[in-house]
Amino acid sequence: MPDTRIRTLILGAGAAGMMCAAHAGPGTLVVDHAGAPGEKIRISGGGRCNFTNLNTEPANFLSGNPHFCKSALSRYSPWDFLDLVGRHAIPWHEKTLGQLFCDRSAKDIIAMLRAEMDRAGADLWLRTEIGEIAHRDGRFHVALTREGRECPVVADHLVLATGGKSIPKMGATGLAYRIAEDFGHKITETRPALVPLTFDAAQKAVFAGLAGSSVAARVRCNGAGFEEAVLFTHRGLSGPAILQVSSYWREGDRIALRLCPDLDLYDHLRARRAEAGGRALGTILAEILPKALARHLSEDWGLSGNLADQSDAALRQLADRLENWMLAPTSSEGYRTAEVTLGGVATDKISSATMGSRLVPGLYVIGEALDVTGWLGGYNFQWAWASGVAAGRAI
Ligand code: FDA
Repeated sequence: MPDTRIRTLILGAGAAGMMCAAHAGPGTLVVDHAGAPGEKIRISGGGRCNFTNLNTEPANFLSGNPHFCKSALSRYSPWDFLDLVGRHAIPWHEKTLGQLFCDRSAKDIIAMLRAEMDRAGADLWLRTEIGEIAHRDGRFHVALTREGRECPVVADHLVLATGGKSIPKMGATGLAYRIAEDFGHKITETRPALVPLTFDAAQKAVFAGLAGSSVAARVRCNGAGFEEAVLFTHRGLSGPAILQVSSYWREGDRIALRLCPDLDLYDHLRARRAEAGGRALGTILAEILPKALARHLSEDWGLSGNLADQSDAALRQLADRLENWMLAPTSSEGYRTAEVTLGGVATDKISSATMGSRLVPGLYVIGEALDVTGWLGGYNFQWAWASGVAAGRAI
């Protein structure tokens, strides 16, 4: 079969690849080994896709170079994406903390991106395996197998948009890292992020006993702190505060939970002692914490007696413990459940304005494949849109 000659080949029909295709101009082909485009969009945000965050700032992203994301984010903002969503009449709502979700379904976002690709004249090949890639005469020669048939392609521009390693069951392969490395780019350490944390057998048994309950907390680790819900599960800890802090946690680190973050706990305990001194300490804890957690902490910390029996010093100590509940995760649930991959193609040899390689003219890297990882809350999609648009416009 003769080579198909095109202008731009985009590897990966995910969030970044589709967005890039909508801006890359004529002669663009997007290929993906999956049977449908945007599979992660489809399952995101519990099926409603948290498609952006109104509070997006460079500080919401982790990267070896914290400045790298600034240019693309400033040139394609959450308001630009919202404008697109508005033009496609997709109903949406703000949930909390600037997080925007579809009212109906994440499929609305996929349909919107497909429509934008059609408008731009981009082609999409699904069930397409990516083979050898050679760079000759300033062009990319890519061996593709589409639904079992060999379909080699020659392109002027090659865009790596195959995402990271999280959720291999959904088709994540880490292919972009291997291709970028072959072209001389460095890959920073990759690890699962936005992922539940796991514990040793004894602690796991405790959390299993609390499974299903959640508590508001401020969770801190390595200088980062997030105030949101913590969820107890049969495997360990999850919930938004834990997922957020997992991006900062490393093996051997402890995490600190400040329970009841809205209360001045010492003042509260003293006030309750004045009002209801006859109540047991455990009962007072159950007023401000889920009952099962209050029971566990009372036993674990050997709390006994009534509130009236407690000195100021004893109440101060209890408040300190509730404000610094130290836990030692042993691991995470890994790529099996991680929402994103931390790390990726190092940004030092990538233009922050165009996402173009400084080593290989015509090569671009966008989305999660790059060493740019957002917080939980719509930031990762905003990065996918912004980096996809930056590359698409440059091409
Ligand atoms: P993405 O992973 O979207 O796309 C990569 C594409 O490349 C896929 O279509 C894949 O099939 C294809 N591909 C991979 N390897 C290939 C190969 N070898 N050959 C051919 N094709 C290949 N973010 C957010 O901002 N808000 C949210 O609500 C959520 N929710 C969420 C839920 C869950 C369960 C997960 C796992 C993730 C999220 N995220 C999220 C994160 C978000 O989904 C993620 O950051 C973006 O999808 C990244 O976009 P990319 O286009 O870079 O990769």
